[in-house]
This record gives sequence, structure tokens and C-alpha cells, in this order.
Amino acid sequence: MKDDVLNGLFRPQSVAVVGASTQPGKIGYTVLHNLIASQYQGKIIPINPGADEIMGLKTYASICDVPDVVDAAVIVVPAKYVPQVTRECGEKGVKGLMVITSGFSEVGRRDLEKEVVDIARQYGMRVLGPNIVGVLSNSDNLNASFAPFLPFPGKASLVSQSGALLIAIDAATYTRRVGFDKLISIGNMSDVDFADSIRWLDDDENTSCISLYIEGFKDGRAFIEAGQNARKPIIALKAGVSAHGAAAAASHTGSLAGAAKIYSAAFQQAGVIQATDLDNLFDRTLALSLQPPMTGDNMLIITNGGGVGVLATDAAERFGLPLRFAPDDVQAELRKHMPEFGSAKNPVDLTGMAGTDWYSKSVQFSYAHPWVDGLVVLYCETAMTDPMEIAKSIYQALQDSGVKDKPVTISFVGGEKSAAAMVWLVEHGVPAYGAPDLAVSSMAALREYARSRKFLQETLTPCDGYDADSARAVIAKVREDGRSVLTEIEAKQVFSAFRLPITTTRLASSEEEAIRMANEIGYPVVMKIVSPEIIHKSDAGGVKVNIKDDAAAREAYRTILANAKAYKADANIHGVAIQEMAPWGTEVILGSVNDPTFGPTVMFGLGGIFVEVLKDVTFRVTPVTNGQALHMLGEIRGAPVLAGTRGEPPRDRQALASVLCDYSNMILSLQDEISESDANPVLVYAEGKGVKVVDARIILKKKG
Ligand code: COA
Repeated sequence: MKDDVLNGLFRPQSVAVVGASTQPGKIGYTVLHNLIASQYQGKIIPINPGADEIMGLKTYASICDVPDVVDAAVIVVPAKYVPQVTRECGEKGVKGLMVITSGFSEVGRRDLEKEVVDIARQYGMRVLGPNIVGVLSNSDNLNASFAPFLPFPGKASLVSQSGALLIAIDAATYTRRVGFDKLISIGNMSDVDFADSIRWLDDDENTSCISLYIEGFKDGRAFIEAGQNARKPIIALKAGVSAHGAAAAASHTGSLAGAAKIYSAAFQQAGVIQATDLDNLFDRTLALSLQPPMTGDNMLIITNGGGVGVLATDAAERFGLPLRFAPDDVQAELRKHMPEFGSAKNPVDLTGMAGTDWYSKSVQFSYAHPWVDGLVVLYCETAMTDPMEIAKSIYQALQDSGVKDKPVTISFVGGEKSAAAMVWLVEHGVPAYGAPDLAVSSMAALREYARSRKFLQETLTPCDGYDADSARAVIAKVREDGRSVLTEIEAKQVFSAFRLPITTTRLASSEEEAIRMANEIGYPVVMKIVSPEIIHKSDAGGVKVNIKDDAAAREAYRTILANAKAYKADANIHGVAIQEMAPWGTEVILGSVNDPTFGPTVMFGLGGIFVEVLKDVTFRVTPVTNGQALHMLGEIRGAPVLAGTRGEPPRDRQALASVLCDYSNMILSLQDEISESDANPVLVYAEGKGVKVVDARIILKKKG
């Protein structure tokens, strides 16, 4: 069931223009002109206190004077009048406001923006903007904006935070031949935001895919939820990923977190496909608005040119869809439609001799074959063939195959004739591109979409078996002490309350106790200073490893205390931690930060040089499913280390993924308390042998 109020905003039956101007060149004039010029079929009502009629339409001094029902009001009066006009619209019973006017939060006038939203809420109205271009819709012939014309018609809809970019995209839809139904400018997002727009467009019968231009979110989690629930593909271009940066951060993870990585993680978790730039947004939108998702990994490429075939093969590797050879029966059939010197492997090279007949037969057969999950057809313009005829034969073959649930993308490389043939293909619902790698990367986007949907079906690791109360008791004690950083012992107590496999650790407050504990744990042991004031324990000479007997333990105990005193004479020393010395394993790091947009977020990376120098880490917004956790382990550049390299057996990735899930649940569950945390190092053993958290660190949120 559609939101009736948003319906009134996005598909209004009647539109008032408050501030419709009599003077050409003013925005209020242009908006009214555009509504008329786009042949909008609903009622258009100009509002202007100084005119009785504008452009032949009866004009009212106030919206309150209008006798008819008004669904949407486009507001184009100066900012200071907007609250009053909003109130009048509320009194009139308007459903939604498109506030084109600038001069609100974007210039520091949050108060004025809030006033408008507060008034609108009193009347149950929704506010689009302020600071927007407006709304454009082909299916309703609605150009309620100051963009010059409706976009090139099609099935995608775009929501843009930038008004200027929306106008530029509007024009580019014609040169790019990528069709849109709606263009929605959301400006300052004082009320209607991306999540609202996604939900509404997901129900819109004229939209098959949703494209977004994003600068930032107010509520990142609402966006993720809207993305997860959407049934249509969503493609996002996020701008400004470098600005956010990681400011002063107390933990490792804090210094590694940046907007780009966390946004990418959030897009993945929302099932949203990311575009790398504006061109890529168009390319991906074209494919996702016209084609079904690619549900398996087998992409078959048919070409008449070896060169473009090789370029496409390279692109397949680059975009994560490496080519596999087609099975023997497929190859045998394809060989019937090519000369001796052709190739039926993959790419299938029909050679430069290929005409409409070979294209048609090989396309129809391959497209219908169950082994093929996605078909890419390439064509290089030759003197013996006519691009339009080839395009038509490919299209007919696709039709004749009777297949409807499999994606196809096409690339024609050539001149004007090829360009015209591609326009024809796009008009017939087949995405076509001027370069083979674009056809492949678009197919990869269709694959990515199917994969992301699969992830969304996964259920979360259940949160039972945790002892959150005891974790909170540890934290409460730290707060009572007036501290915000937990000692390693305290952090490990919190970790173990969430089932995280910490190394056995005890706190000794005397030399004798240290010896007893070392014997209970069993030599060799590790000994570490425990003091809230000594965070970098090794730097303070506060760590001794591989202690093998009582004599060495005594010696270590004394040295550690002496070093700590020398390092910081007034340090408050809780004692010395005696720990089981975990055997060698692959070092990894887990971490968490509280992202201002997405809240509690976890990080994973390999330890040592991978994290220190290469910053080879990956993030997810909590909670993390087991599948997402496994995916994280595979998406860092150092992933082969965990898979087993240089004769090493594969590491226990299952155990590590499950630790990552428990860790993510801990961070989410204690989000009101924990600001940042690290488990570093975590040792990962061979398959079946598990994982050990060797060191733990928790920094609390500042309270009060
Ligand atoms: N109700 C109805 N009409 C009113 C009104 C009211 N309360 N108050 C003023 N008007 C009329 C004016 O009489 C005028 O009509 P006229 O030209 O026939 O006299 C019209 O509304 C516009 O008012 P004006 O004071 O001339 O404003 P303007 O056209 O110079 O600027 C905006 C108004 C909204 C366009 C301007 O303030 C603005 O925000 N511009 C930026 C818009 C923008 O770029 N948006 C974001 C894109 S990303």
C-alpha cells in the first residue's frame, strides 16, 4: 500500500506554484512554464498576491483562496516567507511541499528549516527539500522543476542530493540514451530522505531501478534498511568520500576508518550496487533498469573479433567474473556456426566472417542453454556486415529463444552505424555499450546485484549465550573509577562475556600469586603490566613472553614492575597479567568504531604490515551475518594468506567468521557504552583449530 501523502508529492493530481512569477527569467516563472510545457494533465494553480492571471491560468493571492483540492505545492518564494506559506498550505490540506527555495541549513539556517518542517508535521504534510530543483516524471508528464525538460524516457528513476547535478544528468540522459521515468531532487533532506524515496519508488509501477546521487545521510541505518527491503535494484554514486576522513582516533580502527570504506560496506549490506563515477552510474543504470539479475557465475562472450574478445576477457577478470570454458556440448554446437579457424571456447570467436546467420544461431542457442547465466555479445564493425542488421538479428535471436530471466549486454565497436544500431538495441530493451569492457562490467553489476540479494536472505547469528550483564558490570566499575579506557584484563572480561575466545588471563598482585597462576595456567606464559595509565605496554618494557619456569617468572615479575615505575612513576598499577602463551597463528585484527552516520561498525584485517602499512582492512555496519563475515575475510587484498599460501594449510576461516559475528553482536549490544575497541592480535590457527584473542582494548564513550 503506497504512502498516500508521498503519493500526493510524487504523483500529484494538482500542483500549486506558490511564488509563480509574472516575470520571465525568475524561477517562479520557469516552474510554471515547465508544468504547462510538459503537458501535465493535472490541475496547475499559480499563487501570486500581485496577479489575477499568469500564462492564461487563474491566479490566487493565497493558496487558502483556491477552491479545488491541492495535492502538492511547489514553493518558490524567498526563504523568510516559507514558514508562513507552509502554514497556509497546511490549512489548505496540501499533502506535500516541494521547497525549491534556498537559504536554509545549507547556509547555516537550521532554525528556519526546522521551523518549516515542524509546521508541516503539525498538518501531516511531507517536505521535499528545501534547496531543490523539483520533481520530474515522464509517466505523469510532470515537470515541476526549473530543469528545462523531462529526461529521456525510460524505466529508471533518479534521486539526487545535488540539484545542479540533477539538471546536468537530465540533459545527459539524451546523449547517453539512458532512460529515466522520474528525477527527484531531495536537496537538504529536511524531511523526505533517501530511505523515504527508495520505499516510494520501490512501489512505483513506472520505476524498474533506482539510481542515487548521494553526498551524505542523516540516518545511515534507515538507508540500509530501506535498501534491504527494496525489491528493485538500487545503484548509488557516493560523492565526497575523501573529505570525511578519520580524525584524531584513540584506537587502531578509528585511524583506519574512513567514509569510503564504511559507505561501501553499508552499500553492500543494503544490497545497493555502487557506481564509481557518473559514467559508471549511467552504464550500470542502463543494465539494471533493463535486464534481470545474473544468478550464476557463467558468463559467455560471443564476438566476431579476437581483440575485443581479449579486452572483454581482461575486463571479466577485473570485475570479478572470470571466464570459464563452455562445456563440450555447448562448444560442439557453437562450432557449427563458425569457420574452422573460429573458437568455441569462451570467448566464442565467430571471426570476422560472421554475418547475421552465425550471430543469430549462436546467440539463440547460447542464451537458451542452461549453462549460460549471462550472455555478452560483442561486434566489431566490418565492411561485409551492416551493424543494424546484426543488431536486429541478435535481438530476434534473443526473442526466439523464449528466455526472459537471463541478462544480456552488448557492445558494438565502430562508427556512426554502430552507434545507431546500439540506440536501436537500447530502445528495444537491450543494454548496448561502445566498449567491450563496459558490456562486461555492466554484466558484473547484474551479477553483483544477484549476489547481494542472496546475502540479504541470510539470518543473523543469534545473540543467545552472551552474558551482557556481567560485561556491563565490568564497564560500570571502570566508570566508577572515573576511567574511560579498560585495562586488558577488563576488556578481556567483557570479550569473554560475549563468547570471544580470549587467551586465559589472570591478574596477579604479588610475586607469589604470579608464580601460582603461572603454574595453574602452565608454562610457557606471557606476563604483562596492567595499568590504566600504561596503554602501550611494550614501549614501557611491560611485556615478557615465553616465560618457561618459576625462576624466569619471578625475574619477569620484578622487571615488569620496575620498568613500569621507571616509565611512569605515578602510574596506578593493578598488577601483572599472567597469560597462557598462545602458539603461533596467523595474526589478524578486529576492531570497532562508532561511525557518525552508521553507528557501531566493525573492521577486519590481517595484522602486522598488512594493517600498519597497507591499511588492508574492511568494514561492516553491525550486526554482521556469517555470510558477510566470511565475505569480509575474502575481500581484503591479503585474503590468500588465510586461504593458505607457501605450503601453509588454510586457516580456520569458519571460526574466525563466527568470532567476527560474536564481536559484532558485542559492539551492537554495548553501543551505548563502547566508543572504540580492538582485538589485536587475534591468532588464527589451521582449519578446525580455532582462533585466540591475545590482546583486547576497549575505549568507552564519554558520558554526561
Ligand atoms: N505568496 C505567493 N507569492 C509570493 C509571495 C507569497 N507569500 N511572496 C512573494 N511572492 C511572489 C512575488 O511577488 C514574485 O512574483 P513576481 O515576480 O510576479 O512579483 C514571486 O513570488 C517570487 O518572489 P521574489 O521575491 O521575486 O523572489 P525571487 O524570484 O527573486 O526568488 C527564489 C525566489 C525562491 C527563487 C529564491 O529565493 C531562491 O531561493 N533561489 C534559489 C533557488 C535554488 O537555486 N534552489 C536550489 C537548486 S539546487
